[in-house]
Amino acid sequence: MSRIVYVNGSFVPEEDAKVSIFDRGFLFADGVYEVTPVVNFKLVDYAAHVERLTRSLNELKMAWPCTVPELRTMHEELVVRNNLAEGIIYMQVTRGVADRMFNFPKDTRSSLVAFPQVMKLVDNPNARMGVKIVTTPDLRWARRDIKTIMLLAPCLGKEEAYQKGAAEAWMVEDGKVTEGTSSNAYIVKGNTIITRPISNSILNGCTRRALFRMAKEHGVEIEERLFTPEEAYAADEAFLTSASQFVMPITEIDGKRIGGGQVGPVVRKMRELFLEEAQRG
Ligand code: PDD
Repeated sequence: MSRIVYVNGSFVPEEDAKVSIFDRGFLFADGVYEVTPVVNFKLVDYAAHVERLTRSLNELKMAWPCTVPELRTMHEELVVRNNLAEGIIYMQVTRGVADRMFNFPKDTRSSLVAFPQVMKLVDNPNARMGVKIVTTPDLRWARRDIKTIMLLAPCLGKEEAYQKGAAEAWMVEDGKVTEGTSSNAYIVKGNTIITRPISNSILNGCTRRALFRMAKEHGVEIEERLFTPEEAYAADEAFLTSASQFVMPITEIDGKRIGGGQVGPVVRKMRELFLEEAQRG
Protein backbone atom coordinates (compact mmCIF):
# COMPACT_ATOMS: atom_id res chain seq x y z
CA MET A 1 0.00 0.00 0.00
CA SER A 2 1.31 3.41 -0.94
CA ARG A 3 2.14 5.83 1.85
CA ILE A 4 0.89 9.37 2.07
CA VAL A 5 3.90 11.67 2.26
CA TYR A 6 4.32 15.42 2.66
CA VAL A 7 6.05 17.66 0.11
CA ASN A 8 6.14 21.44 0.49
CA GLY A 9 2.61 22.00 1.68
CA SER A 10 0.84 18.99 0.13
CA PHE A 11 -0.01 15.49 1.29
CA VAL A 12 0.33 13.16 -1.71
CA PRO A 13 0.72 9.43 -2.43
CA GLU A 14 4.45 8.64 -2.39
CA GLU A 15 4.60 7.92 -6.14
CA ASP A 16 3.36 11.47 -6.84
CA ALA A 17 5.90 13.16 -4.56
CA LYS A 18 8.41 15.19 -6.56
CA VAL A 19 11.32 17.48 -5.69
CA SER A 20 13.45 19.51 -8.08
CA ILE A 21 16.88 18.28 -9.23
CA PHE A 22 18.01 21.82 -8.28
CA ASP A 23 17.07 21.30 -4.64
CA ARG A 24 20.19 22.04 -2.59
CA GLY A 25 19.56 18.93 -0.55
CA PHE A 26 20.04 16.89 -3.72
CA LEU A 27 23.03 18.88 -5.04
CA PHE A 28 24.94 19.71 -1.81
CA ALA A 29 23.35 17.74 1.05
CA ASP A 30 22.48 21.27 2.21
CA GLY A 31 19.77 20.19 4.60
CA VAL A 32 18.90 18.92 8.05
CA TYR A 33 16.55 16.25 9.32
CA GLU A 34 14.80 14.73 12.31
CA VAL A 35 13.45 11.27 13.04
CA THR A 36 10.60 11.22 15.56
CA PRO A 37 9.34 7.92 16.98
CA VAL A 38 5.63 7.06 17.03
CA VAL A 39 4.19 4.63 19.58
CA ASN A 40 0.44 3.93 19.92
CA PHE A 41 -0.28 6.58 17.25
CA LYS A 42 1.51 9.23 19.37
CA LEU A 43 4.71 11.17 18.72
CA VAL A 44 7.38 10.42 21.34
CA ASP A 45 9.45 13.29 22.78
CA TYR A 46 8.42 15.56 19.90
CA ALA A 47 9.45 18.79 21.66
CA ALA A 48 13.08 17.64 21.91
CA HIS A 49 13.19 17.01 18.16
CA VAL A 50 11.83 20.47 17.36
CA GLU A 51 14.34 22.04 19.73
CA ARG A 52 17.21 20.25 17.97
CA LEU A 53 15.81 21.10 14.52
CA THR A 54 15.72 24.76 15.52
CA ARG A 55 19.36 24.57 16.58
CA SER A 56 20.42 22.77 13.36
CA LEU A 57 18.65 25.41 11.22
CA ASN A 58 20.20 28.26 13.20
CA GLU A 59 23.72 26.82 12.96
CA LEU A 60 23.36 26.62 9.15
CA LYS A 61 21.52 29.96 8.80
CA MET A 62 18.66 28.14 7.12
CA ALA A 63 15.12 29.52 7.26
CA TRP A 64 12.23 27.62 8.82
CA PRO A 65 10.07 26.12 6.03
CA CYS A 66 6.81 26.72 7.95
CA THR A 67 5.66 27.81 11.39
CA VAL A 68 6.37 25.73 14.49
CA PRO A 69 2.67 24.79 14.98
CA GLU A 70 2.36 23.88 11.27
CA LEU A 71 5.26 21.45 11.63
CA ARG A 72 3.52 19.67 14.50
CA THR A 73 0.21 19.50 12.63
CA MET A 74 2.03 18.07 9.62
CA HIS A 75 3.58 15.32 11.80
CA GLU A 76 0.21 14.49 13.36
CA GLU A 77 -1.50 14.47 9.95
CA LEU A 78 1.04 11.95 8.64
CA VAL A 79 0.32 9.65 11.59
CA VAL A 80 -3.44 9.89 10.99
CA ARG A 81 -3.40 9.67 7.18
CA ASN A 82 -1.11 6.63 7.29
CA ASN A 83 -2.79 5.05 10.31
CA LEU A 84 0.71 4.77 11.79
CA ALA A 85 0.47 2.83 15.07
CA GLU A 86 4.23 2.37 15.53
CA GLY A 87 7.26 3.57 13.59
CA ILE A 88 8.90 6.86 12.80
CA ILE A 89 8.24 10.12 10.98
CA TYR A 90 11.25 11.24 8.95
CA MET A 91 11.31 14.94 8.06
CA GLN A 92 13.91 16.97 6.21
CA VAL A 93 14.42 20.65 5.54
CA THR A 94 16.74 21.86 2.79
CA ARG A 95 17.82 25.34 1.73
CA GLY A 96 15.51 25.05 -1.25
CA VAL A 97 15.74 25.25 -5.03
CA ALA A 98 18.28 27.46 -6.82
CA ASP A 99 20.73 27.29 -9.70
CA ARG A 100 23.87 25.46 -8.61
CA MET A 101 26.16 27.78 -6.65
CA PHE A 102 28.19 27.07 -3.52
CA ASN A 103 27.32 30.25 -1.63
CA PHE A 104 23.82 30.61 -0.23
CA PRO A 105 21.28 31.76 -2.84
CA LYS A 106 19.10 34.76 -2.00
CA ASP A 107 15.31 34.55 -1.85
CA THR A 108 14.90 30.77 -1.87
CA ARG A 109 12.26 29.10 0.24
CA SER A 110 13.36 26.18 2.39
CA SER A 111 11.94 22.85 1.21
CA LEU A 112 10.16 20.52 3.61
CA VAL A 113 9.46 16.85 2.98
CA ALA A 114 8.35 14.14 5.40
CA PHE A 115 7.21 10.53 5.36
CA PRO A 116 6.36 7.71 7.78
CA GLN A 117 8.10 4.34 8.14
CA VAL A 118 6.45 1.41 9.91
CA MET A 119 8.84 -0.15 12.48
CA LYS A 120 8.64 -2.40 15.52
CA LEU A 121 10.05 -0.12 18.17
CA VAL A 122 8.62 -1.63 21.37
CA ASP A 123 8.70 -5.31 20.50
CA ASN A 124 11.96 -5.14 18.56
CA PRO A 125 13.27 -8.76 18.52
CA ASN A 126 16.91 -7.53 18.59
CA ALA A 127 16.38 -6.19 22.11
CA ARG A 128 15.97 -9.70 23.59
CA MET A 129 19.43 -11.00 22.67
CA GLY A 130 21.22 -7.72 22.05
CA VAL A 131 23.03 -6.82 18.82
CA LYS A 132 26.57 -7.26 17.51
CA ILE A 133 28.53 -4.18 16.50
CA VAL A 134 31.94 -3.43 15.02
CA THR A 135 34.25 -0.41 15.28
CA THR A 136 35.40 1.65 12.31
CA PRO A 137 37.30 4.95 11.81
CA ASP A 138 35.16 8.10 12.07
CA LEU A 139 35.34 9.69 8.61
CA ARG A 140 32.84 12.51 9.23
CA TRP A 141 33.19 16.30 9.22
CA ALA A 142 33.81 18.50 12.27
CA ARG A 143 30.18 19.60 12.97
CA ARG A 144 28.48 16.35 13.92
CA ASP A 145 26.36 18.27 16.42
CA ILE A 146 24.26 19.49 13.45
CA LYS A 147 21.85 16.83 12.19
CA THR A 148 22.62 17.23 8.49
CA ILE A 149 21.50 14.95 5.68
CA MET A 150 25.18 14.57 4.67
CA LEU A 151 25.32 10.91 5.66
CA LEU A 152 27.70 9.14 3.27
CA ALA A 153 30.32 8.41 5.97
CA PRO A 154 27.69 6.87 8.28
CA CYS A 155 26.34 4.85 5.32
CA LEU A 156 29.86 3.46 4.69
CA GLY A 157 30.16 2.53 8.36
CA LYS A 158 26.75 0.88 8.50
CA GLU A 159 27.42 -1.06 5.30
CA GLU A 160 30.73 -2.30 6.73
CA ALA A 161 28.86 -3.45 9.84
CA TYR A 162 26.24 -5.31 7.77
CA GLN A 163 28.96 -6.96 5.65
CA LYS A 164 30.45 -8.26 8.91
CA GLY A 165 27.09 -9.54 10.19
CA ALA A 166 26.72 -6.69 12.70
CA ALA A 167 23.89 -4.22 13.26
CA GLU A 168 25.84 -1.03 13.90
CA ALA A 169 29.35 0.43 13.77
CA TRP A 170 30.84 2.55 16.53
CA MET A 171 33.07 5.18 14.99
CA VAL A 172 36.51 5.79 16.49
CA GLU A 173 38.56 9.00 16.41
CA ASP A 174 41.98 9.46 18.08
CA GLY A 175 41.54 6.05 19.69
CA LYS A 176 38.21 6.97 21.35
CA VAL A 177 34.65 5.98 20.43
CA THR A 178 32.62 8.95 19.18
CA GLU A 179 29.17 7.40 18.51
CA GLY A 180 27.32 4.93 16.29
CA THR A 181 26.63 5.67 12.63
CA SER A 182 23.02 6.50 13.58
CA SER A 183 23.01 6.22 17.39
CA ASN A 184 24.79 7.31 20.57
CA ALA A 185 27.22 4.92 22.29
CA TYR A 186 27.43 3.78 25.94
CA ILE A 187 29.24 1.29 28.12
CA VAL A 188 28.32 0.28 31.67
CA LYS A 189 30.57 -0.51 34.65
CA GLY A 190 28.65 -1.66 37.70
CA ASN A 191 25.81 0.83 38.16
CA THR A 192 27.47 3.57 36.07
CA ILE A 193 26.71 4.43 32.45
CA ILE A 194 29.73 5.88 30.65
CA THR A 195 29.23 7.99 27.51
CA ARG A 196 31.03 10.71 25.59
CA PRO A 197 30.13 14.29 26.63
CA ILE A 198 28.24 16.50 24.19
CA SER A 199 30.47 18.53 21.84
CA ASN A 200 30.79 19.15 18.10
CA SER A 201 32.08 15.55 17.79
CA ILE A 202 28.69 13.87 18.29
CA LEU A 203 24.98 14.44 17.88
CA ASN A 204 23.09 15.41 21.02
CA GLY A 205 20.58 12.55 20.88
CA CYS A 206 17.02 13.16 22.03
CA THR A 207 16.98 9.58 23.33
CA ARG A 208 20.27 10.31 25.14
CA ARG A 209 18.68 13.28 26.88
CA ALA A 210 15.67 11.20 27.94
CA LEU A 211 17.99 8.41 29.13
CA PHE A 212 19.94 10.86 31.33
CA ARG A 213 16.72 12.08 32.92
CA MET A 214 15.45 8.56 33.59
CA ALA A 215 18.83 7.39 34.93
CA LYS A 216 18.86 10.29 37.42
CA GLU A 217 15.27 9.55 38.48
CA HIS A 218 16.14 5.87 39.12
CA GLY A 219 19.53 6.13 40.82
CA VAL A 220 21.70 5.04 37.90
CA GLU A 221 24.98 6.98 37.73
CA ILE A 222 26.17 8.66 34.54
CA GLU A 223 29.80 9.50 33.84
CA GLU A 224 30.41 11.67 30.77
CA ARG A 225 33.87 10.89 29.45
CA LEU A 226 35.67 9.44 26.45
CA PHE A 227 36.29 5.68 26.27
CA THR A 228 38.32 3.39 24.02
CA PRO A 229 37.18 0.29 22.14
CA GLU A 230 39.43 -1.75 24.50
CA GLU A 231 37.57 -0.38 27.51
CA ALA A 232 34.30 -1.26 25.80
CA TYR A 233 35.46 -4.87 25.22
CA ALA A 234 36.00 -5.20 28.99
CA ALA A 235 32.77 -3.41 30.04
CA ASP A 236 29.99 -5.12 32.01
CA GLU A 237 27.39 -3.96 29.49
CA ALA A 238 27.15 -1.87 26.34
CA PHE A 239 24.25 -0.28 24.51
CA LEU A 240 23.18 2.32 21.97
CA THR A 241 20.30 4.78 21.83
CA SER A 242 18.36 6.38 18.99
CA ALA A 243 14.84 7.41 18.09
CA SER A 244 14.37 4.22 16.06
CA GLN A 245 16.07 1.79 18.49
CA PHE A 246 15.29 3.44 21.84
CA VAL A 247 17.71 1.66 24.23
CA MET A 248 19.31 -1.29 22.42
CA PRO A 249 21.61 -3.77 24.20
CA ILE A 250 24.94 -4.68 22.58
CA THR A 251 26.30 -8.13 23.39
CA GLU A 252 29.29 -8.31 21.03
CA ILE A 253 31.84 -5.71 19.86
CA ASP A 254 34.44 -6.62 17.20
CA GLY A 255 33.78 -10.32 17.85
CA LYS A 256 34.30 -9.97 21.64
CA ARG A 257 31.43 -10.86 23.93
CA ILE A 258 30.26 -8.18 26.33
CA GLY A 259 28.92 -9.25 29.72
CA GLY A 260 29.24 -12.91 28.76
CA GLY A 261 27.09 -12.28 25.71
CA GLN A 262 23.97 -11.67 27.85
CA VAL A 263 21.80 -8.56 28.13
CA GLY A 264 22.77 -6.98 31.47
CA PRO A 265 20.59 -5.49 34.25
CA VAL A 266 21.31 -1.79 33.70
CA VAL A 267 20.48 -1.76 29.99
CA ARG A 268 17.44 -4.00 30.59
CA LYS A 269 16.14 -1.56 33.21
CA MET A 270 16.80 1.52 31.08
CA ARG A 271 15.02 -0.03 28.08
CA GLU A 272 12.02 -0.96 30.24
CA LEU A 273 11.81 2.57 31.68
CA PHE A 274 12.01 4.04 28.21
CA LEU A 275 9.29 1.77 26.79
CA GLU A 276 7.02 2.46 29.74
CA GLU A 277 7.26 6.21 29.18
CA ALA A 278 6.86 5.95 25.39
CA GLN A 279 3.76 3.76 25.76
CA ARG A 280 2.26 6.00 28.40
CA GLY A 281 2.40 8.81 25.78
N1 PDD B 1 19.83 8.90 13.94
N2 PDD B 1 24.02 10.00 16.59
C1 PDD B 1 23.81 9.96 15.28
C2 PDD B 1 24.97 10.13 14.36
C3 PDD B 1 22.50 9.77 14.76
O1 PDD B 1 22.29 9.75 13.45
C4 PDD B 1 21.43 9.60 15.68
C5 PDD B 1 20.02 9.40 15.23
C6 PDD B 1 21.72 9.63 17.06
C7 PDD B 1 20.64 9.49 18.10
O2 PDD B 1 19.80 10.63 18.16
P1 PDD B 1 18.27 10.49 18.60
O3 PDD B 1 18.28 9.78 19.92
O4 PDD B 1 17.79 11.87 18.69
O5 PDD B 1 17.59 9.67 17.53
C8 PDD B 1 23.02 9.85 17.47
C9 PDD B 1 18.50 8.76 13.40
C10 PDD B 1 17.62 7.86 14.20
C11 PDD B 1 18.59 8.37 11.93
O6 PDD B 1 19.44 8.93 11.28
O7 PDD B 1 17.79 7.55 11.47
